[in-house]
Amino acid sequence: MTIMDKTADIPAPRAGGSNDAPLLEVRDLHVEFHTRDGVAKAVNGVNYSVDSGETLAVLGESGSGKSVTAQAIMGILDMPPGKIPQGQILYRGQDMLTMSYEERRKIRGQKIAMIFQDALSSLNPVLSVGYQLGEMFRVHQGLSKKQAKAKAIELMDRVKIPAAAQRVGDYPHQFSGGMRQRIMIAMAMALEPDLIIADEPTTALDVTVQAQVMDLLKELQTEFNMGLILITHDLGVVADVADKIAVMYAGRIVETAPVHELYKRPAHPYTRGLLDSIPRLDQKGQELYAIKGLPPNLLKIPAGCAFNPRCPKAEDICRTEIPVLVPVSEQDGSELPGRGSACHFWKETIHG
Ligand SMILES: Nc1ncnc2c1ncn2[C@@H]1O[C@H](COP(=O)(O)OP(=O)(O)O)[C@@H](O)[C@H]1O
Ligand SMILES: [Mg+2]
Repeated sequence: MTIMDKTADIPAPRAGGSNDAPLLEVRDLHVEFHTRDGVAKAVNGVNYSVDSGETLAVLGESGSGKSVTAQAIMGILDMPPGKIPQGQILYRGQDMLTMSYEERRKIRGQKIAMIFQDALSSLNPVLSVGYQLGEMFRVHQGLSKKQAKAKAIELMDRVKIPAAAQRVGDYPHQFSGGMRQRIMIAMAMALEPDLIIADEPTTALDVTVQAQVMDLLKELQTEFNMGLILITHDLGVVADVADKIAVMYAGRIVETAPVHELYKRPAHPYTRGLLDSIPRLDQKGQELYAIKGLPPNLLKIPAGCAFNPRCPKAEDICRTEIPVLVPVSEQDGSELPGRGSACHFWKETIHG
């Protein structure tokens, strides 16, 4: 079942663009905020990519630059104070940072849609959800009010909102948190995007509802072969959903891995710390491990590895040299596809 017929408004590939390129690729992205107190370096050379049908989870503590990266992709950064001094954001091989406003407009919002944590503040409280869903079709496709309403009901059905036809005139506050988040997913799905960026989509929900919303997102992604970037601070959320993970710390990717390998054998002490802080059923009653210390002040990121003041394994080199993300291999040197670590001591961490 399709929500609607595909609109054929993807810009044709042009010089520098390619059909073989990943759906979305972020290259060496830097974002800084110029504030009264100084320059906050929120994103410091991020690289990641996601393909159609693939889920990339971006994981990291609060303040690590996950949302700012997403905002740069969506073109919704506050500029100023934000600034992108360096980097590329390639959609199907075309850099959105240098394309014309008109080209960009066709991609952002239509080909790439975003879901936020807080549905209540993303929805307009004085308009019915049916009106807000229908607006997507009225504005972007020129449908009549009646046609748009029918589409809204179809979408609400698709995201499994019970009695959609009866509830289409209800207002956001009349829905539960989980149902509101389904409405947000419906809004994001309306124009059948190629890529959805979901920024902490279930963080505000109870654990059981979290799982239901995540299952729905995954189901739609598979059905429509979309790319999904799932941003979260909660490792527990992504295990069953993601294909690959990028772990962020102080605006850098510090580890990349296929999801199950990351759980089995982290190659960065920060990832290990995150894994050790997940509550486990068999450890009920025991004190939960938490990474000591706080994430760095982005106005003054520590020299060397930004994680060094909190790292149990730090040595002198960690305080002077910034570790680059390098491929991680087996002890015998054989490749571990998709794995990378930005730790001077990744070998000891993964094999030790
Ligand atoms: N509008 C802004 N003005 C100034 N600084 C900002 C702004 N937005 C984000 N930042 C800075 O960028 C850092 C990273 O933010 P963010 O990407 O939202 O982190 P998270 O990984 O929790 O999503 C924040 O800690 C903050 O210092
Ligand atoms: Mg965030």
